Amino acid sequence: MKIISVIGSGLIGRSWAMVFISGGFNVKIYDNQPGQAAKAITEIRRQLEELEEAHMLRGELSAAQQLALLSSYDDLAQALEGAFFVQECVFEQLEVKQSVFQDVEHLVGKDVILSSSTSCLVPSSVFSKVQNRSRCIVSHPVNPPYYVKLVELVPHPETAATVMDTTHALMTKVGQAPVCLKKEIDGFALNRVQAAIIAESWRLVQDGIISVKDIDLVMSEGLGMRYAFIGPMETMHLNAPEGLGDYMKRYGEGIMRILNSFGPVPDFFAEGAKNIIDAMCELIPSDRQHLSARMERRDQLLMGLAKLKKDH
Ligand SMILES: NC(=O)c1ccc[n+]([C@@H]2O[C@H](COP(=O)([O-])OP(=O)(O)OC[C@H]3O[C@@H](n4cnc5c(N)ncnc54)[C@H](O)[C@@H]3O)[C@@H](O)[C@H]2O)c1
Ligand SMILES: *[C@@H]1O[C@H](CO)[C@@H](O)[C@H](O)[C@H]1NC(C)=O
Repeated sequence: MKIISVIGSGLIGRSWAMVFISGGFNVKIYDNQPGQAAKAITEIRRQLEELEEAHMLRGELSAAQQLALLSSYDDLAQALEGAFFVQECVFEQLEVKQSVFQDVEHLVGKDVILSSSTSCLVPSSVFSKVQNRSRCIVSHPVNPPYYVKLVELVPHPETAATVMDTTHALMTKVGQAPVCLKKEIDGFALNRVQAAIIAESWRLVQDGIISVKDIDLVMSEGLGMRYAFIGPMETMHLNAPEGLGDYMKRYGEGIMRILNSFGPVPDFFAEGAKNIIDAMCELIPSDRQHLSARMERRDQLLMGLAKLKKDH
């Protein structure tokens, strides 16, 4: 019996629990708010039944079989008993994470892997209060992990290679798509690429080159069409008759010229920012109702895309 402990039963904790039970692991879920972990199971049951109904359930097991692998705890020591892997999913606050890992370290055996879901904190900060940091790693998911399978594995400078390998194998086994960073860096890979896209999109709108609506179309109807299946490297490789080297011979200088014209980091809080925000809110008003409807549409479309990717 292979047990994984999930610490924190919010949005991401519940998603990780669903991913791990879909792979046949026993999952013990813990939250420091009494009753919260039990509530999480009720919510997961509802979601698994819906997924089963829609034929979108992951893994080989039925919803009932997966639910039988899940248990909830209000006591940390009990939640950690027997686990070989701990996935932390508490608030994104450094002190909270540091103290959780300090507590967890004292309650588990020396070979247990300590993994954090942090999106914005580097491993050397998150694990600074852990004594044996060779067993520590960040496994950064993308929301919602059930449909968006990327997991960024980011090592602490002291993380053992075997810890990286075991985590990579675990994520692969449960059907996620792990990638390994060789060193920690602010923003990891995904958020750094995302920041570059945000910066240039913002600049183009701010400089009056294109509208908010149209820059989003550049992505959703243009670049995004292929990026769901191939990345920027393969895109270039396929866009010249003799591959990447050929592509750079043809377009490399032009790309460097464009990059040199990018200018400084945009100020998201300057005067003009309000115009950009207003333009977005005119397209989709920022009240709960409008945003929720669009979020639901996004998740439906992501589900369809996940299905399409699975069938190929
Ligand atoms: N939401 C996202 O899009 C997303 C994506 C990737 C990574 N993450 C990361 O995942 C982590 C969790 O995010 P979330 O969106 O699930 O937050 P959330 O607020 O939905 O859930 C956090 C849960 O942790 C519990 N908690 C707080 N302190 C605790 C403690 N000391 N011990 C045990 N439980 C505790 C809370 O009661 C709550 O149930 C964060 O580090 C976040 O950065 C979030
Ligand atoms: C530190 O963690 C590693 C990896 O889990 C483990 O192999 C090693 O025995 C641990 N060392 C100590 C002193 O606990």
